[in-house]
Amino acid sequence: MFQSLAVSSKLSGSVDVLVLGYFNGQPLDAKSKRLDIEGVAAAALARPEATGEAGSVVEAFPSAKSAVKRIVLIGLGEKGVFTVGALRGIAGSVGRSLAASKAGLVRVEIGLAIGLAIGGGGEELEASESGQAFGEGLGLLGWVCEEFKGSRLKVTKRSRLVLSSSDSDFSAGMTRGLALAESTNFTRTLSQTPPNIATTGYMAEQARKLARKVGLKVTVLEGQDLVRERLQGLINVGKASENKPCMVRLEYVPKGSGAGAKKPIVLVGKTMTYDTGGLSLKINNGMVGMKRDKDGGCAVLGAMHAIATVIKPRRRVVALLSIAENSISDEAYRPDDVITYRNGVTVEVTNTDAEGRLVLADALCWACEKENPAYIVDLATLTGGVVVALGSVFAGYFCEDARLREKVEAASVASGERVWRLPMHAEYVEMMKSPVADLVNSNPNRKASPIQGAAFLSAFVTPKMPWAHIDIAGVHVSEKNAGCWVDGPTGWGVRLLASLVEADTGK
Ligand code: BES
Ligand code: MN
Ligand code: ZN
Repeated sequence: MFQSLAVSSKLSGSVDVLVLGYFNGQPLDAKSKRLDIEGVAAAALARPEATGEAGSVVEAFPSAKSAVKRIVLIGLGEKGVFTVGALRGIAGSVGRSLAASKAGLVRVEIGLAIGLAIGGGGEELEASESGQAFGEGLGLLGWVCEEFKGSRLKVTKRSRLVLSSSDSDFSAGMTRGLALAESTNFTRTLSQTPPNIATTGYMAEQARKLARKVGLKVTVLEGQDLVRERLQGLINVGKASENKPCMVRLEYVPKGSGAGAKKPIVLVGKTMTYDTGGLSLKINNGMVGMKRDKDGGCAVLGAMHAIATVIKPRRRVVALLSIAENSISDEAYRPDDVITYRNGVTVEVTNTDAEGRLVLADALCWACEKENPAYIVDLATLTGGVVVALGSVFAGYFCEDARLREKVEAASVASGERVWRLPMHAEYVEMMKSPVADLVNSNPNRKASPIQGAAFLSAFVTPKMPWAHIDIAGVHVSEKNAGCWVDGPTGWGVRLLASLVEADTGK
């Protein structure tokens, strides 16, 4: 959408666009009015299309001698129900309008309307928060991925947006929002990368590159390392592919003495570079799009990017990516195989398409045994069932620890990445018992499949360890082309995890 996006702290005299906000049914606020020197914006609000609906755009044109070429009046919706979160979508609408008019220098002053409306009374709304949400929205809208387009691509000239605001807190917020969107966009590009390019080795290389770029420790366990460490889920699921499985461990270590002493937060990501279903092959087009079965891991990588470049918490954060390709060949693991895990638990494979939980089990065992975590959060495109249940509106999540639940839910509200908790109960764990081994990886009755996944995973987390499992199969991709979203990967989880870590740095 844009060639580049940046924030400038200097307010330049003349700009291509001045962005002002107004609420449904309200006139222009007094401060915005002062910027509307010729009164063209106020006049435009009398037009019938000026509905005030959130994200609706009305344009006004000052005379040729004015320092402002164009005014974009953005509807903020109903005053009484306004939330900071709405600003992401609103920023998307502003961004679409800016892109269409090929704007360059843009002065964003929607904070004036918002500040007066809400900062003046009851609810407190920080300008930095609104600026961040606005920056996130613009940055998310700005994601472009043309790496896989060829000679038939029509080259379009995109504008270089430079944003400024008279409110330095709003401005700083925008800078931060753009940075968080950049981390998210890194995840989205990885998600978009096709499986013949984004192989297991490629994903490991991306982790190494990220580590070099932002300063993280990195270890890649592969081949004999996996055997030595008894990471049997990865070994088995990855057996059929020429692209060999691996586990990536990244670690963020804070600068300054003593800061690294606290228990780390551990983030785990399912990173299936392709999921054919294995010998329990996916049918009826169920395979298309399974390049995105790596999106849990991609989100964890994006979160580590944000943590190292934006959040910089005063505690360690460890990321574990279980990377494999679920393919078919004569070497494939099969239904009826039994796998023994490093914690001694044995699993009878009943369905090779329930592979995510098998590779996540390795990472969860590893985390509990080796990392001494404060808590663990895993992200995985685990089940089609969660898509049926919650669609693309909420991720399904499981967490039996009340304190961690509060943290995850607060991060969800802050980031706008919605989670809905699903239940856990001993009877679900009962459903995962095997007549042959300890557990089956899938109960053939297919009941409550997202919960089956979580119940299975719980056998690999030590009792009392705070742990949240987030099933992102419904939210990692969107067909929407509205607000700050374009059709494609969403990078879901990057901002939630960044916000989680930020709120919990122990500062
Ligand atoms: N990667 C899939 C889940 C998935 C489905 C993600 C649709 C995104 C969109 C997962 O590995 C899978 O195949 N799950 C099976 C589990 C079943 C065999 C127990 C499912 O949900 O059908
Ligand atoms: Mn599968
Ligand atoms: Zn899968």
